[in-house]
Amino acid sequence: MRLAIKVAAGTLLACSITSALAQDVTVTVEAEESGPRISRHIFGQFAEHLGTGIYGGVWVGPDSDIPNVRGIRTDVVDALKRLKVPNVRYPGGCFADEYHWRDGVGPERRSTVNANWGGAIEPNTFGTDEFFDFLGMIGSEAFISVNVGSGTIQEAADWVAYMTADTRSSAGQERAANGHEDPYEIAFLGLGNENWGCGGNMRPEHYVDLMKRHARFDRNYNPAQAAGSGNEMRRIAVGPSGDDTRYTEAVMKAWSERDWSWSIEGLSLHHYTVPEWPPSLPSVGFGEDDYALILQTTLKMDDLLRMHSAIMDKYDPEKEVALVVDEWGVWLAENPGSPQGFLQQQNSLRDALVAALNFNIFARHADRVRGANIAQMVNVLQAMILTDGPRMVLTPTYYVHEMYLPMQDATFVPVSFEAGEYVLGDITLPGVDAVAFRDTAGKLWLSLVNLDPGKAKDVRLAVSGPPIRSVAGKVLTAPKVDSINTYDRPDEVVPKAISGTARGKNVRVSLPAKSVAVLALEE
Ligand code: AHR
Repeated sequence: MRLAIKVAAGTLLACSITSALAQDVTVTVEAEESGPRISRHIFGQFAEHLGTGIYGGVWVGPDSDIPNVRGIRTDVVDALKRLKVPNVRYPGGCFADEYHWRDGVGPERRSTVNANWGGAIEPNTFGTDEFFDFLGMIGSEAFISVNVGSGTIQEAADWVAYMTADTRSSAGQERAANGHEDPYEIAFLGLGNENWGCGGNMRPEHYVDLMKRHARFDRNYNPAQAAGSGNEMRRIAVGPSGDDTRYTEAVMKAWSERDWSWSIEGLSLHHYTVPEWPPSLPSVGFGEDDYALILQTTLKMDDLLRMHSAIMDKYDPEKEVALVVDEWGVWLAENPGSPQGFLQQQNSLRDALVAALNFNIFARHADRVRGANIAQMVNVLQAMILTDGPRMVLTPTYYVHEMYLPMQDATFVPVSFEAGEYVLGDITLPGVDAVAFRDTAGKLWLSLVNLDPGKAKDVRLAVSGPPIRSVAGKVLTAPKVDSINTYDRPDEVVPKAISGTARGKNVRVSLPAKSVAVLALEE
């Protein structure tokens, strides 16, 4: 039996019921219809002072033999520039709620202990000004998380003033004395991090009271971000973890009852692909059972977005407040022999599929989900980039980000498809996932994920409107579900060219097993 699924923005990703033997998939693209804009900020990154995410991964210091500019490694900057990273969330994570920004500015830096992450010594040689230098190098915007857990409101307000005030005030003069005359811009201000957990284990009511004060007093003084500029800083409140709705309810209720004195523009959601806690599944050397379990767990993101969006709709039917999934990704066992608490894991083809499925889910919820940050950028959890001393390798997850570049600020285009099923034991998943969109230049694109690790799919594209003249793009696959790139073999999992055939209305493309493809449909 076959069941066609209509997958439009905000509708459920369901799997179709079809014969296990079917390998043909029909994807219908409603090319003359359009949905919401897919914010480029769903491709945000996350850089926490954690393990070698900053030290070694981004910062090597100006005296290092590793090529660098002002201490920031050149190879990593060059790789990140290619991803057009829209924003970087910094300095944490759990680290943010114990971070005291003054330790990391000026000529005298104070070292501290990173209690959250392995008790490593935090030299604070990379701080606010180095972060903005790095952002300038990669061409990205700032997502700063202030310390709500262990800091004062005064400390957070002073930090935002240090970053944004001009030199008429002492805050701006202090920044200028540290070599940065012009105020920085802050695209997003995170009002704490996981304050239901590592950020102070607060009752929602307690957090809401604190959040309101931060929303009021953490003022951005940068004239380029003044009210009415269209470039205002967006304040992101701490929201839920997984399916716990208490923070969603409390924050959104408070927002709906707000007066003139405060507001927020976003609510954060944290959700990792982690089937069991503590994370124990290996990141390499796993079989199909782990593969299927991880993909199944990933697809739960759709349920969570639906659940929290429904609560937000109750308080905010106009969708003024964005849902920002500012921590997501696959969280696996730490690499054997790596320092405990550094969260170092390998990154396989399977994880590339995890990233693509998440992007497709975010795109389907583009009306509400207007930001997301993968955890994390370099050397931590589902990283884009791994480094070891002078060596650097790009992961399969990096390449998925690169393939999805046309989705940045694209317009959602509805599709429907007969996905078939991929079944392993008691896990049943859709055989294929598909999302269509028009890029900012109006070109039509289709992203396809073949979840089935054993069967290629013959995909027939039914596209409304003018005939498709050609179908071509990039595909990412590899011999095994746990194939990885290594320093010695960096090209095991890299995108390859793919093209289909287009004869009038007969458009077809062959999708390899366990693959992600992003295709341009020339009209
Ligand atoms: O990304 C690692 C950690 O996961 C972050 O510090 C924290 O916010 C989350 O629990």
